[in-house]
Amino acid sequence: MTKRLIFNGFSMNVVSHIYHGLWRHPQARQAEFNDLDYWVDVLKVFERGKFDNFFVADVIGVDPIYRGSWDTFVREAVQIPVNDSSTLIGALIHATRNIGLTFTSSILQDHPFSFARRVSTLDHLSKGRIGWNIVTSVSHNAAQNFGFDRIVPHDERYAWAAEYVDVVYKLWEGSWDEGAVIADRAANLYADPSKVHRIHHDSKRYKVLGPHLTQPSRQRTPVLFQAGSSKAGRAFAAANAEGTFIMSLNPESARKLVETVNAQVEAAGRKAGDLKYIQGLSFVVGSTIDEAKRKARDLDDYASTDGNLAHISRDLGIDLGLLDPDRPVSELEIEGVQGYVAYYEEAFPGQKPRVRDLANALAYNTRIVGTPDSIADTLQEWRDAGVDGVNLIYQTSPATYVDFVDHVTPLLQQRGLAQSEYADGTLRERLFDDSGPTLNDRHPAAAYRGAFAGQPATGLPKRARG
Ligand SMILES: Cc1cc2nc3c(=O)[nH]c(=O)nc-3n(C[C@H](O)[C@H](O)[C@H](O)COP(=O)(O)O)c2cc1C
Repeated sequence: MTKRLIFNGFSMNVVSHIYHGLWRHPQARQAEFNDLDYWVDVLKVFERGKFDNFFVADVIGVDPIYRGSWDTFVREAVQIPVNDSSTLIGALIHATRNIGLTFTSSILQDHPFSFARRVSTLDHLSKGRIGWNIVTSVSHNAAQNFGFDRIVPHDERYAWAAEYVDVVYKLWEGSWDEGAVIADRAANLYADPSKVHRIHHDSKRYKVLGPHLTQPSRQRTPVLFQAGSSKAGRAFAAANAEGTFIMSLNPESARKLVETVNAQVEAAGRKAGDLKYIQGLSFVVGSTIDEAKRKARDLDDYASTDGNLAHISRDLGIDLGLLDPDRPVSELEIEGVQGYVAYYEEAFPGQKPRVRDLANALAYNTRIVGTPDSIADTLQEWRDAGVDGVNLIYQTSPATYVDFVDHVTPLLQQRGLAQSEYADGTLRERLFDDSGPTLNDRHPAAAYRGAFAGQPATGLPKRARG
């Protein structure tokens, strides 16, 4: 049987997400991002196309990192203003029925206790449709907004992420046993106290007693996504994530990435297939190649090189506005997204990227301009390379999505490359054929199930005990 692809609608609660300058195009509605009606319209398109998941990116800072200032970011709305992503997800639950709702939250921005409670609440309200994109934040300002002088060093961010997920895993998986909730009206017994536990977490950054204050939601732990592609990022994904967002530059390099990371997944005691690879792509669709090229040229008239350079400067933590574009990247120390260099080296073995190569890598190397047929052929190549799904990046929203859903999705459905109906169940069950609603037993969080039974429920400070 043909393995279908997973489709994510990818967006951000901003005017300008990845294709900067395009918000000015006459058909672009992305500047309506403050208006919930706009988002409801976008999500209707996704559900019409039977997309699996809506994925909202997020950032928590803006740096003076393009030509020594943040003016370009503000002037061109390059990811600022940016509204909170989990609030948007909450507002969209009732406007949607089937699509997964995945939001980004950085380990910097929220204490794991309150974060775990928010996620459980969203998962209850959505009947198990929530995903979490775990990020560590690549900007100085993100760190400065949360008590640091500068960005937390690269690998230390991942050590912190490991500590953070340990806390939330304990709360989601270990604090309430299966069967804790009884809801017996006659006995006035809602939940069995012997099945609700403290977690007694005590580590470098966090001390959390518990218990988790929400009862288990359908998925308990939301579907876990991650997007880092450095060495440390891939190790974290291999151990923890169920989906990883990748930006490989061609199917062959994606194949290498999938093989390498799958070996790491297995080394972590999980199975290949436990981690899905979701490739970022954008499309310009025409009924002929010429028409598609014409549409692409029309869109490109609105593109902002400054905006695109500012964005990638932020991601890399390097001011590309002040550097010689021919300078080899290997001469630079990158505290930001090291994964971009890995993507380049996988696509062009033996070549070392220069600054200008990375500047172009983000958006335009992963844009496919073609007819529905040629696009379907290309997607088949990505699928055959081992990629499990696509993160559909907009140029103009919702027009990029509408074109895809109206013209490409039907063909993909005919070829068995896209689902034609939603299956029943939670987001996790829909993404993984062989999964129940909760994490499988191979995932590290599963070790916390039943782990806190029999722990004393003490914890009141002495004076309060009286
Ligand atoms: C497709 C994709 C989406 C991402 N989305 C976000 C995001 O929404 N917020 C964020 O702070 N970082 C985001 N990142 C950055 C990663 O989460 C990660 O922090 C970054 O790649 C640095 O890690 P690395 O050096 O391991 O690659 C994204 C990266 C990719 C490739």
